[in-house]
Amino acid sequence: MSQKKVTVVGAGNVGATTAFLIAVRQMADVVLLDIAEDTAKGKALDIDQGRAALGSDVNVTAAADWTATAGSNVVVITGGAARKPNMSREQLLEINVKIVAEITANAVRYSPEAIILVVTNPLDAMVHVAAKVSGLDKARVMGMSGELDCSRFNHFIADALSVAPSKVQSVILGRHGDDMVPLVSRTTVNGKALTDLMDAGEIEAIVNRTKKAGGEIVALLGFSAYYAVGAATVKMLDAILNGPAREVVCCSYAENQYGVGGYFVGVPAILGPNGIEEVIELELGDSEKTELEKSVQNLHKLIAQTDQMLARL
Ligand code: 2OP
Repeated sequence: MSQKKVTVVGAGNVGATTAFLIAVRQMADVVLLDIAEDTAKGKALDIDQGRAALGSDVNVTAAADWTATAGSNVVVITGGAARKPNMSREQLLEINVKIVAEITANAVRYSPEAIILVVTNPLDAMVHVAAKVSGLDKARVMGMSGELDCSRFNHFIADALSVAPSKVQSVILGRHGDDMVPLVSRTTVNGKALTDLMDAGEIEAIVNRTKKAGGEIVALLGFSAYYAVGAATVKMLDAILNGPAREVVCCSYAENQYGVGGYFVGVPAILGPNGIEEVIELELGDSEKTELEKSVQNLHKLIAQTDQMLARL
């Protein structure tokens, strides 16, 4: 079986961490691409030098030129500006629309068969840009968001209940923003309803912390999170590269599901080697429906702005 190939665009913290985790788990050869060539070279070399210690047989190489990315199975887009303290993800829109549009055009030029996995913020808008610019089947374009948000939510719950995070199951719908919608009614711990294990006030505090979890880390570090971001990205890559298709929570194209009306947004979906196979539509409670409607309204506004910016490029 020939080795799979993943291009990771952007050798910043998220890109490099993703490349490192791919090497640790021996999932694919990695091309780490960045216009800052020495940064990409330095990080790829550093990861590569760890392969002997890890016993990892995949190659990690750096590139500033897209020819090295040709024939990738997946292109992970992490390039663009990231949040600084007191910034919202939406404030990155203007600068990142142009960057993600350029990256996407190159990605499909050199790897027309690839699946595109977007990580750049504001996430849902950037997935829209990648889909529009690439012209790819919408099943082959997606964003990493829900797995990160769920991982954070599960962690806070596990911590509070002193259980392993793997025992917590949750789904978060909507945008990757402060208006995301954790489905409390569907959250379970060891198969038991969360609402039977914690009081409403404690759950609400965890929901609110989850919504702002990215910002909490930006405030501590002065720059954006990357370890959990890389971990969640690699979870999605595993479904794509290794199969079998499985349920993940991610930014996926939703036509009629959840009343989204033909936009990319966070939903549970079946992801596998051919991309998104199906969006899973869950029954929602009334307050969840109302919250999701708000998140989707915000998304529609964000996409209208994004389209105006795209039209000016
Ligand atoms: C976060 O939530 C980077 O948006 C990402 O930390």
